[in-house]
Amino acid sequence: MSQSPAPGSSPAEVREPAARAAELRAELERHNRAYYEADAPTIPDAEYDRLFAELVALEAAHPELQRADSPTQRVGGQPLDGFAPVTHRVPMLSLNNGFDDEDVEAFDRRVADALRGAAAAPGTQTGDLFGQPVEYAAELKFDGLAIALRYEHGILVQAATRGDGATGEDVTANIRTVKSIPLRLKTDTPPEVLEVRGEVLMFRADFDALNRAQEAAGEKVFVNPRNAAAGSLRQLDSRITAKRPLSFFAYGVGELVGVPMPDTHGELLAWYETLGIPVNKEHAVVRGAQGLLQFYGRIGEARAALPYDIDGVVYKVNRRDEQERLGFVSRAPRFALAHKFPAQEALTTLLDIEVQVGRTGAITPVARLAPVFVGGATVTNATLHNEDEILRKGILIGDTVIVRRAGDVIPEVVGAVPERRPPDARAFVMPTECPVCGSAIEKLPDEVIARCTGGLICAAQRKQALLHFAQRRALDIEGLGDKLVEQLVDQQIIRTPADLFKLGVAKLAALDRMADKSAQNLVASLDRARHTTLARFIFALGIRHVGEATAKDLARHFGKLDNVIAATEEELLAVHDVGPIVAQSIANFFAEPHNVEVIEQLRAAGVTWAESEPQAVEALPLAGKTFVLTGTLPTLSREDAKAMLEAAGAKVAGSVSAKTDYLVAGADAGSKLARAESLGVPVLDEDAMRAMLDAL
Ligand code: IVH
Repeated sequence: MSQSPAPGSSPAEVREPAARAAELRAELERHNRAYYEADAPTIPDAEYDRLFAELVALEAAHPELQRADSPTQRVGGQPLDGFAPVTHRVPMLSLNNGFDDEDVEAFDRRVADALRGAAAAPGTQTGDLFGQPVEYAAELKFDGLAIALRYEHGILVQAATRGDGATGEDVTANIRTVKSIPLRLKTDTPPEVLEVRGEVLMFRADFDALNRAQEAAGEKVFVNPRNAAAGSLRQLDSRITAKRPLSFFAYGVGELVGVPMPDTHGELLAWYETLGIPVNKEHAVVRGAQGLLQFYGRIGEARAALPYDIDGVVYKVNRRDEQERLGFVSRAPRFALAHKFPAQEALTTLLDIEVQVGRTGAITPVARLAPVFVGGATVTNATLHNEDEILRKGILIGDTVIVRRAGDVIPEVVGAVPERRPPDARAFVMPTECPVCGSAIEKLPDEVIARCTGGLICAAQRKQALLHFAQRRALDIEGLGDKLVEQLVDQQIIRTPADLFKLGVAKLAALDRMADKSAQNLVASLDRARHTTLARFIFALGIRHVGEATAKDLARHFGKLDNVIAATEEELLAVHDVGPIVAQSIANFFAEPHNVEVIEQLRAAGVTWAESEPQAVEALPLAGKTFVLTGTLPTLSREDAKAMLEAAGAKVAGSVSAKTDYLVAGADAGSKLARAESLGVPVLDEDAMRAMLDAL
């Protein structure tokens, strides 16, 4: 990792083990308190894990350094004064971590050897138990907070956080507000005592909505779903918690009195399901290291599509009797392993903040970073979204910052580490002039985004507008990438999208990175792009607030482009899903003579589409209904299914929410299906969808 170390704590320095151990203990303690008590992480988990591992190794090598107050002897922070302490009758322990295949193979070997009661014979490769691979329960490692739910005679009587593992906090009033947690178990014969252990977390969509609401109310926004869940659960006022969308998944058991322990972890989870306790669907019983690694690979691929954050998977020896034989070492069970995914957050230095100009002139501050490896790639730039966000996050140039990169998401700076702030750190100042065209930068009083006022005079905006026009979902001009657009605009070969259609092979072939063949291909794809649809054409124009869905609504409603151009704001408001801001933006766009001129030039250049009679979407049979598609349908492609539904007036959305009316699911449907089921959204297969459309 390439962050600048805190003064005086360079691990590279050769120092006395006792001094280093004391330093690590103090630093880990500080982070612990910030993490568990203030719900404000000061460093990413991966960095914490690294410091923790260093201290564990140091204490193992120098047993005389072990101390009862070392963070390695406990698992979290002290309970806050506001919540009553709860002593865990069965301690809430932590998990040992593994990071690569070798760690998993070593774990499997250790388990098998211990169960066999003998040390491994030299050269033993697999964790075979008398020739049989060990059976494991594999599940997700949720990125939330551990919680213990105590049911007496089937009634929820207490909920406690993990705290330091021995003593947690009584959060019963808050937990009672979590809708998915049953207040009474679904059984006529409940055990005398059942302590369910699991994780409280927040789904990403819920997190986004919460942050939007917090922002609108002028309240603090949370850095990630885990922190939002922690902050919500540790509210002293449970009425606030009740408004927070928390979820829960069970993965373990504490005290159990009155009924025998299930024989395996798998059976425990199955029993929980019958009791109405939420259990995540993504778990499996597998054998040996190979089975574990297959599970890890499968979940790694599914991870980005899951609606909540996980930071790895957890393997547990499935059989209870084997778990008991293996027992515990210091703070963690010997029968379990957390196999972590590569860190998605890392620390680095914020070298500078520059601004970028977008298609509509939006000015986005961009962080220039000291290169850092995060989420599987080296990151040197990250978005800071807007000026308000920089102020809210209190980020200064020169700060050590937390960078996050998850899946294909654009890397972002989530926050600064103020305690590592250098004395010469300085605040970002929004420029008053566009760095590309020199026009004034303006921020309207009720907007968060500052904009370059240069319009299409600004080369940056022109480039973005051209790329938008050419993108797959717009005119779909294959081969017109950003490097080419850059040259075409910089060399003043084109100014507007209409100029694209005047480009000849010779001119194109003379450009950098272009040859005859690529120039011919581009001219051919421009030819193909001339035949488009009205919806694509409207979307391609890049009118502010007019995305693909609105463009489709406009095309359907008005049938002809001239009707859209001539529409008054009032007439535009009659279109499905068009509100005053969108209507005004469309009217303003067509009131601009320059825009109408470009449209005329495009028509003159031979861009055509089929026009039809106006059709009010509201009159269509599925108007107002929202569908979501998932999985592979037996005969229809996603696009075809979408087109069929839209033709009937339905809206097709990308993710399942409480507003979804139907989910159409095919083979290998994943998290969307699970979410639909948990929300009670009706699920159709292709046949049922066709039957519904036929019956209209
Ligand atoms: S089992 C004795 N299973 O990870 C083992 N923990 O590092 C107790 N976690 O405190 C934990 N998903 O907050 C277990 N499927 C899972 C988990 C899980 C997330 C968390 C939990 C625990 C921490 C341990």
